[in-house]
Order: sequence, then structure tokens, then C-alpha cells
Amino acid sequence: MKIIDGKAISAKTKEELRLEVASLKEKGVSVGLAVIIVGDDPASRVYVNNKKKACELLGIYSEEYALPAETTMENLLGLIEELNSRSDINGILCQLPLPRHLDEKAVINAISPEKDVDAFHPVNVGKIMIGDFDFLPCTPAGVMRLIDETGVEIEGKSCVVIGRSNIVGKPMSMLLLHRNATVTICHSKTQNLSEITSQADILVAAVGRANFVTPNMVKEGAVVIDVGINRLENGKLCGDVDFEAVKDKCSHITPVPGGAGPMTIAMLMANTVTAAKKQNNL
Ligand code: GUN
Repeated sequence: MKIIDGKAISAKTKEELRLEVASLKEKGVSVGLAVIIVGDDPASRVYVNNKKKACELLGIYSEEYALPAETTMENLLGLIEELNSRSDINGILCQLPLPRHLDEKAVINAISPEKDVDAFHPVNVGKIMIGDFDFLPCTPAGVMRLIDETGVEIEGKSCVVIGRSNIVGKPMSMLLLHRNATVTICHSKTQNLSEITSQADILVAAVGRANFVTPNMVKEGAVVIDVGINRLENGKLCGDVDFEAVKDKCSHITPVPGGAGPMTIAMLMANTVTAAKKQNNL
């Protein structure tokens, strides 16, 4: 069994991007990202801090807009409109989830597709569907990198994704399909779940339930990617996969933390650099 070191692979990717940002700067092109956070969700705060830190490391200019939980749609849409029109801001990210009184769909729709570094806008989602994308959705793109690093061929393999969210499960399935995998999407209404997941050569868990994936759900020798980040009562982070119980059955497995999480941020940085290049006709 090999542990897939997401932290190291993320560091390698970020170093490549740091060099690219520096070479863009020499050409007079700077890269800028605006991050919006509404309210004081502690998990969102951690994610946003990590995104800002990554920008600093790579030499990407970043601005944070921390808005109070009571922010109105009018305020938020006004800010997005202003950021859409600024040439020094190449990427705009609004951290989800938003407080309940705000219309998440309207917010995603308001971000210019060219600056939508999360790839959440319907235009970008549609492009992903037809395989003609500018931005890859960050978490699924990071997972693809992790699978590629194992050296395991994706084409023709049986891949099972547990979870069908717009952020992870659905785009994850599309990226695997583009690589000619045979993809099955499982979710909370799936019958005989373990029968299906135990056929998977590559199993991606994006459920949001601690230790959900147990050994009986895993095929001997499978690649297991854990996208879950769950906080236990004792404050510890744990994934969707019961790592200790499952690890000896896998050929490769990601830990939590230190697996898919760091890759998501690296892919966000990659999208921001792509956005800057496109907006400067490079
Ligand atoms: N909330 C959880 N994951 C994400 C993400 O990738 N991007 C944004 N904007 N919000 C999130």
C-alpha cells in the first residue's frame, strides 16, 4: 500500500506555478485573485486563509473581502460587479456556503465566467460537460492529479464516485469520463452501495460523512481517494474513508488531512494563472 502524498504533490505544483507567475511578471503581467467570504463560518475562514497564504507563496496579488453575515444581495452583487470590471483582478472566488438569506445561484451567475476560477458558473459547468474547458473544477482536478501520480491507468477502468454534489461528485465523474473510465455515481439513494463500490478500480469518496467507507466497500488493490473533510467531536479532522481499516486493502490511498485538500488549493492557483494569461491574450 502506498500513501498518496497530496501535500508534496501540491507543493511541487505550486512551485511550478510560482516560477510561471515570476516569468509573467517579467512580461509585465501580474496575477490577481479576489476572495469573498460572508459571515464567520470557521471552516470557511480556514479555507480562505489557506487560499490567501498560497497566493502569497506564489507571488499572486490577493484581496480579501470579509463581509458581515447580514450582507444583502445588493451589496454582494455590487462588489462582484466592481471586481468583474477591474483589470488587476483576474479571478474571483466567493467562498461557499453562503448564509441562508443569500441566493447562492445568483451569486455564482454574477461572477464573470472568465474570472470564475472555481468553475462554478453554468457556462464553465457546460464547458466541462462537453470537454472544452478553460478552468477545471479545483477539487476534481486535484484528484485527477493525485490519481495520475500513482501511475495507475484510468482508461477503461471501473471508477466509482460516491457523492453527486455540483462542486465535487458531478464534475469528478465528468473528468474521469473524459479520460475514458467507466464511471458509476453513487449517492444517498443508491441501493447495494457496497456491491457497486467494491467493483471499483478507482474509488473516490465525496460524501461528507466521517469513516463512511469501510473495508467491505473496497476492492483489493483499488486506488482510494478521500475528498471528505469531517471534524470529529474531539476536534480532529477525518475523511470519508476509514483510513486505518481500509489502507491495507488498497494499492494507493490518500490521507486526510494531506491528500485531496492541498491539491484543491494548488488547482485554484493554476486556474488563477490561466485566467490572467487568457485575459492578457497569452
Ligand atoms: N466551499 C467548499 N469548497 C469550495 C470551493 O472549492 N470553492 C468555494 N468557493 N467554496 C467552497
